[in-house]
Amino acid sequence: MDTLILKTGETALSDLSLKAAEILSRGGLLAFPTETVYGLGGNGLDPSAARRIYEAKGRPSDNPLILHIASKEQLPTLVKRIPETAVRLMDRFWPGPLTLIFEKADLVPAETTGGLKTVAVRMPSHPVAQAILSHCEFPVAAPSANRSGRPSTTKASHVIEDLDGRVEAIVDDGETPIGLESTIVDLTGDVPVLLRPGYVTLSELEEVVGPVETDPAIRRESILKKQEFTGRPKAPGMKYRHYAPKAPLTVVSGTAMEVSEALNGIADEKTGILTVDEHRHLYKKGAVLSLGTLKDPETVAHSLFDVLRTCDTLGLQRIYSEDFSEGALGEPIMNRLLKAAGGDLVSPRELKGGTRMIAVGCDHGGFELKEKILAHLKERGIEYTDLGCYSAESVDYPVYAKKVAHMVAEGKAELGILICTTGIGVSMAANKVRGVRAALCSDPLSAELTRLHNNANVLCMAGGIIGPNLALRITDTFLDTAFSNVERHARRVGMIEED
Ligand code: TXA
Ligand code: MG
Repeated sequence: MDTLILKTGETALSDLSLKAAEILSRGGLLAFPTETVYGLGGNGLDPSAARRIYEAKGRPSDNPLILHIASKEQLPTLVKRIPETAVRLMDRFWPGPLTLIFEKADLVPAETTGGLKTVAVRMPSHPVAQAILSHCEFPVAAPSANRSGRPSTTKASHVIEDLDGRVEAIVDDGETPIGLESTIVDLTGDVPVLLRPGYVTLSELEEVVGPVETDPAIRRESILKKQEFTGRPKAPGMKYRHYAPKAPLTVVSGTAMEVSEALNGIADEKTGILTVDEHRHLYKKGAVLSLGTLKDPETVAHSLFDVLRTCDTLGLQRIYSEDFSEGALGEPIMNRLLKAAGGDLVSPRELKGGTRMIAVGCDHGGFELKEKILAHLKERGIEYTDLGCYSAESVDYPVYAKKVAHMVAEGKAELGILICTTGIGVSMAANKVRGVRAALCSDPLSAELTRLHNNANVLCMAGGIIGPNLALRITDTFLDTAFSNVERHARRVGMIEED
């Protein structure tokens, strides 16, 4: 099939959008720009158009499509019920980069929703998308206009790369303004649930509708390779590997100094390095690609997919990226980046080939659990030093707490693990040693947050309270979560050392 390219600068928008709508009305496929990314559109009420979309994308047909509408008046025909939370979110964010999930009306075919009883709807704000949609008498189903698994498309040239010959037409409007796909919120339960982070942030949503839950599937630890996530994501699309460039990508989390030092040691001309303008000068080797500036996180969001595609055209063999958690868009940017990396996140120390060393200690109340943890570390291939005690006979807990604390404070171990009956005594003793931040954790969330926010370096657990299964999950989360290094957290951790 010959794909028609419709350039927005060359034809009046009214003519171009009429023509585009005509293609869609005839059952054709049309790629068009939105404020987020390019979409691959088809008539959302026509099962055969939906099937053609899946085929053109090479996408599994259980992954539902988003319906795009020109005005809110179209919504009641597509959904069973419009909850009050939806009304408030639409008033605030529509038209714009927010997709809402409703119970679907019978009019919407199962082909469009991947067999689900719910339907995703969004009203884009992009003037070209608006013009096209306003000429259509049906909602337009449009996933991102990329081949399945590839980075989403933010330029017409990306769309041509992926879909030329597979669709009737592509509307070329240059770059899309935001560059990340829409935020998705599920409104079919009692509490709104965030299914995909995007330009509209969690705190902006909460300002409008109060507490919003986050689907566990999009939490950072669920995306990381070192973690085993067994839950089922509510947005089916989130289970697939996404956005991946051809060369393997690894995210290196640490200060720019540490990251650049580690990369300068291993990079060559076939190594891509993703950074920001402010850190560019730190890299002495490799193909250094800046995504934008720290002063404006929107620049990083805007060019992320483009830079991932550039890595392919440069023929790179290995790609490393800094961690872009900082700033208001840190969450959606890292969600895409870590997916592109297949969850491969390492510390500069690991990158330099440094093996991890974990110092482990306990008193008699923690002896049994400590043995289980050591066996688990061994199974995972993580090196450790067992500082005792070595039996369940009564001992003085500060002796062992201090041994572990000193090993960590002196840099001989990266992290420490301490156990007594309640975990409290060992944490008190360890925290007396300068440079140690010991955290008592009884659940994986605390373990994750204390690594992310407090850079805790000794994990304390209660051998008399928590069972071995939970303890191993807490241990894994603690060991596999890197400090976020966001400025406000870095500053606060620094304050802990002040008198
Ligand atoms: O910004 C965007 O949303 C872009 C532009 C083109 O509008 N579209 C987009 O579509 O990103 P797509 O298909 O690439 O991603 C849609 C995501 C998928 O992960 C899909 O599983 C999820 O939305 N989704 C769609 N319908 C759903 C439903 N009824 N329930 C849960 N998740 C749904
Ligand atoms: Mg997509």
